[in-house]
Amino acid sequence: MLEIEGLTKTFMRGGLLRKSAPVTALRDVSLTVAKGESFGLVGESGSGKSTLARCILRLDQPTSGRILFEGQDMARLSPAAMRRLRARIQVVWQDPYASLNPRMSVHDIVTEPLVVHRAAIGLDSRGRTERAARILAQVGLGPQHLHRYPHEFSGGQRQRIGIARALVTEPALLLLDEPTSALDVSVQAQVLNLLVDLQARLGLTYFFISHDLSVIRYICDRVALLHRGELVEQGPTDTIFDAPRHEVTRTLLAAMPEVVVPD
Ligand SMILES: Nc1ncnc2c1ncn2[C@@H]1O[C@H](COP(=O)(O)OP(=O)(O)OP(=O)(O)O)[C@@H](O)[C@H]1O
Ligand SMILES: [Mg+2]
Repeated sequence: MLEIEGLTKTFMRGGLLRKSAPVTALRDVSLTVAKGESFGLVGESGSGKSTLARCILRLDQPTSGRILFEGQDMARLSPAAMRRLRARIQVVWQDPYASLNPRMSVHDIVTEPLVVHRAAIGLDSRGRTERAARILAQVGLGPQHLHRYPHEFSGGQRQRIGIARALVTEPALLLLDEPTSALDVSVQAQVLNLLVDLQARLGLTYFFISHDLSVIRYICDRVALLHRGELVEQGPTDTIFDAPRHEVTRTLLAAMPEVVVPD
């Protein structure tokens, strides 16, 4: 479904007058995510995880390398083909406080991607509202919430709204960049269970970013480890956890807290 080949991303830093060394956030990263699986990406802060997500979403342009989605090189698509494809890749960001516009109602937040992608999805205003209500129900929120605003919700509920917004275009691939790490531990478990449930129900493919190995172990079939922009290890989750080959993986495992995920 998603193939990343030799991806490198270098940021040029510094202003007009002062030059500073460029930062290579990703160096020659290659990985493949299969349809229907949960692929985990782990790594310490600054290792390049979000940069990889932003490259997949075309919010950052790769310096070199290719990203193929369903066999198509994303850099070579026409703008119209790109817009159609972008409706099929959605994202849930870490912070449900920062990522929901406080001035928009839940209705407007959740239907916004349908407006952006209306050429590809083709729902009228009433159809969009119906779709939003249906998706909200799937994340455990009733239609009475449609006309409320983000500040009226708890952190966990806000992240459910963020998930609803990501699912409303019926994407094939969902990028989840630390979707639960801003939440209380008890709420984290509920949201993780919801994500597991939604994946099974909707046949989604997950690209799940976390620095929390217990979360990755709970969610992911396969996992890759980024270290300073390079992929140092990847394989089935059980293999990586039982027999880590790279020193960085061992260090991360040693620092892993007690697993707090419920059944
Ligand atoms: N727009 C940018 N301009 C310059 N440097 C950047 C930019 N975005 C990211 N970087 C740098 O790229 C590196 C990787 O950052 P990135 O945000 O991808 O890490 P991360 O693994 O997501 O970290 P975290 O776990 O803290 O979210 C860092 O050194 C960061 O400072
Ligand atoms: Mg990040």
